[in-house]
Amino acid sequence: MNWDDTDEDTYDEVELTGAELGHLERLTDAEADGDERAVEAALRPRTLDEVVGQARVRDQLGLVLEAARRRGRAPDHVLLSGPPGLGKTTLAMIIAAEMGTPLRLTSGPAITHAGDLAAILSGLNEGDVLFVDEIHRMSRPAEEMLYMAMEDFRVDVVIGKGPGATAIPLEIPPFTLVGATTRAGLLPGPLRDRFGFTAHLEFYEPHELDQIVHRSAGLLGVHLTTDGSSEIASRSRGTPRIANRLLRRVRDYAQVRADGVLSLPVAQAALDLFEVDESGLDRLDRAVLDVLCRRFGGGPVGVSTLAVAVGEERETVEEVAEPFLVRMGMLARTPRGRVATPAAWHHLGLAPPPMPTVDSALDAPLFDDV
Ligand SMILES: Nc1ncnc2c1ncn2[C@@H]1O[C@H](COP(=O)(O)OP(=O)(O)OP(=O)(O)O)[C@@H](O)[C@H]1O
Ligand SMILES: [Mg+2]
Repeated sequence: MNWDDTDEDTYDEVELTGAELGHLERLTDAEADGDERAVEAALRPRTLDEVVGQARVRDQLGLVLEAARRRGRAPDHVLLSGPPGLGKTTLAMIIAAEMGTPLRLTSGPAITHAGDLAAILSGLNEGDVLFVDEIHRMSRPAEEMLYMAMEDFRVDVVIGKGPGATAIPLEIPPFTLVGATTRAGLLPGPLRDRFGFTAHLEFYEPHELDQIVHRSAGLLGVHLTTDGSSEIASRSRGTPRIANRLLRRVRDYAQVRADGVLSLPVAQAALDLFEVDESGLDRLDRAVLDVLCRRFGGGPVGVSTLAVAVGEERETVEEVAEPFLVRMGMLARTPRGRVATPAAWHHLGLAPPPMPTVDSALDAPLFDDV
């Protein structure tokens, strides 16, 4: 058997460090770096009413918060899950703002010991909102402490080691935990079950992104035409963070090379310059498709081979380029390797081969040696 590929779900989690991703400088990366977070703060909606899209989540959350307000109690713990850049942190901040309470902010990787968590929990006041970003990356002992805190508003702090160790119970005032995760599947069941309300954020529709782009343009004080806005929205991969980022690049272009107005031709020229095409694919995405179709006849081909052919690490292709291509229905991950769908061929302006490549790959035996 010469498996180069396995099913998506069986991949080990791959962490790409900033340095590894740094050289890519992708305009279409859904994650934000440090500088960007500062810019984003200015564009975040502050109230539930200002949130665009996610209608169901907004309605449900609005109800949960209103009920808590009427009862004069802290709302249930909330879990926000979904891909990067869709508004998890934004919603966490809104929850605190709507409840008129401070937001305490931390993240899974920052909590390496149960003691770190105990220190945070013991500093909470009644009704505070504790936001734990990337909650799936918390250490196991801290996770167990969190179960108890969420349910009983009490934790046991262990002092000392070995037989002499004693557990000192610590009362915690009722608080609301808001957890955010891009990988809800990695959360242990007991933790997931302790959230009273779970919201899964979906990618945004183009007309919603259009509204977001308009709103951001207003906040940035730039003049944007209707068709300029929809051009930016349609290239934003369903992600508000990317929409806001593309808007800023189009603004740069408009100010330096045009009359300052973000019109359709300006948006097109700017985004072409930054190599984000009409469907939101960037240089790497297109390189993957190009190699797959032109060099390997549409596949199936192993991801390692594909990575070598585009001159990138396997992880980069797998984690950075493929998810969007799969979402767009241009690439399929099959047991025998990556396959281009007819949509991929069309996107490259090529005629798909006569054989339906996806089907033939799926029909192929799972094991080469059977
Ligand atoms: N519903 C929305 N309406 C308007 N703007 C939004 C919305 N959701 C997100 N944004 C914008 O997108 C940017 C990114 O959102 P946010 O930081 O909340 O994403 P996230 O889900 O926390 O991402 P990550 O997983 O990387 O932490 C914010 O600056 C915000 O302005
Ligand atoms: Mg966030």
